[in-house]
Amino acid sequence: MLDTPSNTANDVRLQSFSIAYEYPVVFTRDAFCPANRCLIDALARREAGKLHRCAIFADDGVLSAIPGLADRISDYASFHARHLKIAGKLVPVPGGERCKNDPDTVPRLLAKFSELAIDRHSFVIAVGGGAVLDAVGYAAAIFHRGVRHIRFPTTVLAQNDSGVGVKNAINSLGLKNLVGTFAPPWAIINDSIFIDHLPAREKRAGMAEAVKVALIRNGDFFRWIERNTTALAQFSPRHLDRLIKDCAELHMRQIRLGGDPFETGSARPLDFGHWSAHKLEHLTRHEVNHGEAVAIGVALDTRYSVMTGLLAEGEDKRVLDVLKRLGFTLWHNALRQQNVTGKLSLLKGLADFQEHLGGELTITLLADIGRGIEVHEMNAELVGRCIDWLQQQAPAP
Ligand SMILES: NC(=O)c1ccc[n+]([C@@H]2O[C@H](COP(=O)([O-])OP(=O)(O)OC[C@H]3O[C@@H](n4cnc5c(N)ncnc54)[C@H](O)[C@@H]3O)[C@@H](O)[C@H]2O)c1
Ligand SMILES: [Zn+2]
Repeated sequence: MLDTPSNTANDVRLQSFSIAYEYPVVFTRDAFCPANRCLIDALARREAGKLHRCAIFADDGVLSAIPGLADRISDYASFHARHLKIAGKLVPVPGGERCKNDPDTVPRLLAKFSELAIDRHSFVIAVGGGAVLDAVGYAAAIFHRGVRHIRFPTTVLAQNDSGVGVKNAINSLGLKNLVGTFAPPWAIINDSIFIDHLPAREKRAGMAEAVKVALIRNGDFFRWIERNTTALAQFSPRHLDRLIKDCAELHMRQIRLGGDPFETGSARPLDFGHWSAHKLEHLTRHEVNHGEAVAIGVALDTRYSVMTGLLAEGEDKRVLDVLKRLGFTLWHNALRQQNVTGKLSLLKGLADFQEHLGGELTITLLADIGRGIEVHEMNAELVGRCIDWLQQQAPAP
């Protein structure tokens, strides 16, 4: 028998270094007006006075909604020809989940980067909803092991949540966001002009993330939303603007100060209401979109918080009213769907939620309006009763 080498024979040297990340999140209006310097300033952030090569990829839904956009970007580049050169022509990318589902999207993007000779000193600029930002961001993060990437989020959800973060992903093997990286972008430019062109349904969907983050992080923000549901439901630009900024700031704050920007632990602290939301999106084959599912998930977990005694009686009704006044439909029959053993299919969302990160099941509930609290189990029977309650309170339209 061989001797087991003792640990003292091992020569262990600890390698350690840290990298500070920094990127601007700019809120602006009409970023491609020649007088607007935010893109030029972002490009020049570390290398002023240089001509920067940029490849531009844009969501085809945005290009249809704003037909003059490609010309406007090219006019902007001509005006700033000393600082910005567009590599090739603007490349349209299929908008929405299609681009994350199609296995050819990333190979096509990589081929394009290669054709355009993108290197680590050039920029990949993505203009689009969260899905296009995710797909282009992922391709940019793996090309040459990561090239500079600037995002122009064009939906409420992308401007106040997904687009200001550090993640990207595509769907693979039938699983959402299975393949992706953590890759902080070079800059994020939130241009409110894009929101003007967004369909009402998409505008509303993004507001669910604001209600979510307000409930777990900032009671004053929730009360502001509560006081302004009428204006928000009518998509008043001034109110939407404020909602996007405050929501984005709370998401940025979590990444900056939460202690786990690359999510190595078991918690997903900002994913309140998301264990059921992700499952509901899946069960309805995305008939219910992400924000709409989050609104339902938030309503359910708020009720669950009350039923478990964490949150005061009546606060569930209050949250439900805010969501209803914002125009959300808070019921879908898929909430009642059962699997072959007669269990609620929705409950599988808990296991999926845990598997995505690994480690212990960690769910955020509410201890107060503005204060989330983590728990490590959910009672199936009680979840069923929350679903009953939701159906009574918010019957199908
Ligand atoms: N990376 C992250 O941290 C993160 C976090 C949350 C969500 N996401 C991802 O974001 C995606 C959802 O993003 P989304 O809600 O922004 O929607 P989306 O990207 O799916 O876009 C929805 C639709 O709106 C169109 N569109 C986008 N902007 C428009 C505009 N200004 N005018 C008109 N049409 C426009 C798109 O073409 C698409 O058809 C999901 O894939 C989700 O997984 C990523
Ligand atoms: Zn979300």
